Amino acid sequence: MRVSGSDLVKFQSLLNSVLASLVMALTSFAVNAGVGEGQELYNAYCQICHGELGEGQTMGKPLTDGMANRLSDEDLLAVITDGRAGTGMVAWAGSFSDEEIFDVASYVRALQGKPGLNLATDDSGMANNPMALAGAELFNGSAGCSNCHSYDDQGGNVGPVLDGVSSRLGEDALLQVLLNPSASIASGYGAKVVEQADGTTIRGRYRNDSELAVQIQSEDGRRWVTYFKDRVKSVTDSDESLMPDVFATLGAEQQEQLLAFLNSL
Ligand code: HEC
Ligand code: HEC
Repeated sequence: MRVSGSDLVKFQSLLNSVLASLVMALTSFAVNAGVGEGQELYNAYCQICHGELGEGQTMGKPLTDGMANRLSDEDLLAVITDGRAGTGMVAWAGSFSDEEIFDVASYVRALQGKPGLNLATDDSGMANNPMALAGAELFNGSAGCSNCHSYDDQGGNVGPVLDGVSSRLGEDALLQVLLNPSASIASGYGAKVVEQADGTTIRGRYRNDSELAVQIQSEDGRRWVTYFKDRVKSVTDSDESLMPDVFATLGAEQQEQLLAFLNSL
């Protein structure tokens, strides 16, 4: 059979379109099926330190806790690629290809119950949100919130734990609490006022009541102090929250930063 020039052109263009759809199929295959590859790699190389389900083991931290959850996709890839100097977490770039790192990162996301990596549009998570990062600094620094509140198991316990607070309260209620803490007081966190026989009064979070004594957590949260009832004149509920009106005194930008941070919890 003789092959004419025009047949060759037709064949070439057919080949091109077959190739193009093959490439497309392969790319989407990589995006969707990477998780399965990632699971194999994870079980072989990561599970020993991070646990079968990312729950953590003695040698590696949990990958499903708040901290790991908040890693942006870029930071997740970076920590697997570059490791963390001075810890058991080595730079896997030495033994994995970029694609394998992507796959294992996708599987870490699956363990976290999240959809796969989405590098182009990822702007969620604190690491990528400068407002929330600035808010975290205020929270743990000059605004003094962390003296009384914890998130990720760190911070004080005079006030409620704030993990998930934005979804628990909703936007309006959250703003209300911050602007006017005494308007509605979270149950179990109200203040008591203890008036002693000598006339001095103490205000703090009520921690315990027994036949002989009450225990009050001092306002700075440090200690639980015991007051014997035979020396106490009265114990009354306070209408005023233990939470100071700090938020209302901040500038608009700082308020927005704190809100962005609380919304990321
Ligand atoms: C020898 C134990 C060990 C192995 C194996 C290991 N890791 Fe780690 N990994 C660690 C330790 C320890 C840390 C915590 C480092 C630190 O203190 O910041 C860590 C941190 C991480 C973090 C960051 C978590 C966070 O909250 O910042 C990720 C993600 C991670 N590892 C994923 C992996 C993946 C994926 C693999 C397998 C390719 C792997 N690790 C293998 C020990 C290990
Ligand atoms: C001296 C301790 C103290 C400080 C400092 C403090 N809080 Fe509070 N906070 C509390 C207490 C106690 C409550 C619970 C009583 C109430 O609802 O007013 C509370 C309640 C809250 C709540 C509502 C939580 C819920 O589950 O209902 C939020 C949100 C909050 N605080 C955020 C902050 C922020 C942000 C800061 C820093 C600007 C801050 N707090 C500073 C003691 C404190």
